[in-house]
This record gives sequence, C-alpha cells and structure tokens, in this order.
Amino acid sequence: MEDQNLFSRRDFLRGVGAASITGLTLWAGGCESCRNQIEHRPTRRNIANLAPNDPIIQSYKDAVAAMKALPSSDGRNWTKQAEIHQNHCPHGNWWFLPWHRAYLFYFESICRKLSGNKDFALPYWNWTSSPSIPAPFWGSGNPLLDTTRVATQSSVADSSMVGPAKIMEILNLTNFFLFASKAATTQRQNAGYGMLEGTPHNYIHGFVCGDMCAYMSPLDPVFWCHHNVIDCLWVDWNINRGNPNTDDANWANFEFTDFVDENGNPVSVKTIITVLYPIFSYQYEPCGPTMMSPKISDKRLLEEWLRKGAPAKLEFVKRFELRQSVSAELSKPAGGTIKVEPEAFRSVLESAGKDKAVLTVDEVEIPEKQDVFVRVFINKPDASSATSIEDQHYAGSFAFFCCPEVSKGQPGMAMPARPKAGYLVDVTPTLRKLNQGGSLSSPQLDVTLVPVPYENRPIVSQRVTLGRLEVGIARF
Ligand code: C2O
Repeated sequence: MEDQNLFSRRDFLRGVGAASITGLTLWAGGCESCRNQIEHRPTRRNIANLAPNDPIIQSYKDAVAAMKALPSSDGRNWTKQAEIHQNHCPHGNWWFLPWHRAYLFYFESICRKLSGNKDFALPYWNWTSSPSIPAPFWGSGNPLLDTTRVATQSSVADSSMVGPAKIMEILNLTNFFLFASKAATTQRQNAGYGMLEGTPHNYIHGFVCGDMCAYMSPLDPVFWCHHNVIDCLWVDWNINRGNPNTDDANWANFEFTDFVDENGNPVSVKTIITVLYPIFSYQYEPCGPTMMSPKISDKRLLEEWLRKGAPAKLEFVKRFELRQSVSAELSKPAGGTIKVEPEAFRSVLESAGKDKAVLTVDEVEIPEKQDVFVRVFINKPDASSATSIEDQHYAGSFAFFCCPEVSKGQPGMAMPARPKAGYLVDVTPTLRKLNQGGSLSSPQLDVTLVPVPYENRPIVSQRVTLGRLEVGIARF
C-alpha cells in the first residue's frame, strides 16, 4: 500500500487498480504503461536553462499566485505551507534530506494542480554554476519576488561555500552522516550538521536572508528551488555515485505526517518511500559539477539497492577533545588547542589510508542574527577574515540557519537561551597537506574559528560561542 505514495499524482495506478503493486514487481513486467510513465517522469530542470517565457516558469508563477490567493483554511495556502516548515522542519539531523524531499514532492504536486500544467516539474537553482539569485525571482509584481531579501540581484554567493571544489568535496564523502547530518531520535532534534546541510545549505539561507534567514523561509519562492538543488545533490551522491543511505530502521521507517497533497488533504509518508521518488516520480537535469549517470543501471536492482541501504556509522576509534567555552568575534577570531597523540594520526595521513580525521565543532550557540559564517583553520592561530581560503591551513566552513523569527522580547522578559548546534568538518585533506609540508609534528592541533561577514551586509555584531572541540579518527 505504501507505494501508492509514489504515484499519488499520477493516475495510472488508479487506472489499473494496482495500488498494491510494488515497484519490484512492476519492473518484472505486467504493466507496460506504468513503466512507460515512469520512464517519462517529469524532469526537474536547472532554472538557468529555461527561457524567461518557458511554461515551467510561467506555471510556477501561476501556482504561487494561486496559493497566495487561497484562504488560510486551505492547507495549500502559501503561508500555511511555510508554517509546515516553521513547525516541523528537521534540521541538523538525518531526516533533513528526506523530510525536505517529501515537502518538495507534495509542493510540486500542488503547483501542478493549481497551475493546470500537468507536466510541471519544479526547477532548481544551481548556486554552484549560478551564484546569484536567478532572474525569474526578480521584478516588481512578480509572484516569485520576496521583498524581504537582503541579497540583491547582483549579490554573488561565496565560492568557498557553494563553489565546485566545495561541492565535489561534499559529493566525495562516503559516510552517510558526514554527508546527510547525524542520527537523531526525534524529528526536531539538532544532533549535528553534516557538510551538505551545514555548509552550502545553511549558507544560502543566510546569503538570501530576509524570510530565508528563519524558519518561515518557504515564504520566499526561491526556497523551493534552493532545496531542489539540495535534493538533486542527494540524488547525485546516492544514486549516481552509488553511496548508500543508512539501513537503520529508525531512519527508514520514520513517518512524516506534516504535509498535504494537491487537494489539500493530509498525507503521511515514510522515509524509505522518499528514497525511491527519484526513480519513480521525477528525475533531474544533472546538477553536480561532474556529469554522472546512475551507478546501477538496471532499474529493478537499483530499487532493491535503494530500499536496502547499508550500515552507516560515525564512530571514532580515537578522540581528542577540548572542553572549553570559546568565543570568536569578527574582529577577534578565536579557537583552542587540542592535545593529540601524533601517532594516532598515522593512518589518517597515509594517502591510501582509509581513516579520516573529523572535527566536531560542538555546542555552538546559534547567533541571533545569522549575519556571519565561520571558517575553520588548523594550526594557524593568527588567521583572520582576510586570510585566503587558498591557504593550506584552511579546513572548511559552516553557516547558521535557525529558528522561528526572533520576536521582539517583551520588556522584562528574560531572553530565552540560544539554541545550540554541532558541525562536522572532514579535516583529513588539510591534515594531509600540512603533513606533507612537514608542519604536523607537534602533539597539538590549533583550531581557529574565523567569523566572516556576509558580503555587503551591515554588521550587527555577533559573537560565535562554542563549548567543545573534538578531533576524532573515524574508520568507515
Ligand atoms: Cu528546512 Cu533550508 O530549510
């Protein structure tokens, strides 16, 4: 029965009365027209490849305008859709990817219905190849404009966060948690950001800002196209590059109950079903920096492989920790010195070694205004925001994205404690570089955190405070 979800907006299953068909038997034969429809499932395209008058763009505008015009009693109403995010979105955990995938899936089907364009497929904004907010989102009177944005049409996203080298580094991760964020037990627990979420994903929210800086961000139509490329990168990592998702039943069987379908009726969907969307329900124009096609070309085997997943763990065979509150400011980068046993790193430093060194920056208090992001340097205590990211000590970056809009506190009311988050940074490549240069012999690692302001942003401050630094040696 669950497979019905995959086809909910297509009529063929209803037509053949085959709601109980599983994908697996479908490939084996029996339903030629089903296979045909799957083969021709809608293609989600790069918005940069669409002419301004392309029907996809027009349909997206029509759909957004229609959703804005719906009464708030209708779950498809524009603000209602954003409230689903505000009230339920998982961030900093392993349901980040599947939840947002399902959110987009139902949103897309609403757009299809309300625009009347049966062939509509949500386009994506590929900020790696087009680092400015694309033209279709600008222009007064345009339903795709959000006037709260801080970025302008000529703002350019930072290549250290979204450029091809960074995206390749992320796509080359083989560990599910490093890629897709850490395991959690509840939907909204912030367990720790993996690199896709913590770096380009969070960064783009802060880059666009306005509505995009908080959990009502789906009010900005660019939100959906931003998440669409995140989803496409997950497809690239998982299906094209053949990296399995976790097989943990707590992940796969978790059910999302927050969405409404194209008629505004509540729906629920299991995580494991979302894993199959890209082979049944839509496909992507390639979005990764290098072209790839699916590792497993046989559809039936691919489905089996996707359903199965593989054991994933992020366990450290050795950990070196510094527990100490550190506050970094724009004018005053800060960090800590972690005592390590250089011996323990030998397996990490061998170029053929399978071990990885993973830095956890933990108990980071999310600043109230997300007007800075953070660069991490190793063994460069004098690093500043002027230090080039070409510097061999540069190890990675992360950004903030959080929370319901901060309400102007009532007078006399204590400020609530800021939520905290943890970030994972694979520092293996940096340690290898430093080792080759002969500068990695001492029994300590200096970790320096450099807050960097977003380009052309009035700076309102902000210190970045964290409670724990850890370098762990992971064996996958
Ligand atoms: Cu739940 Cu990019 O947002």
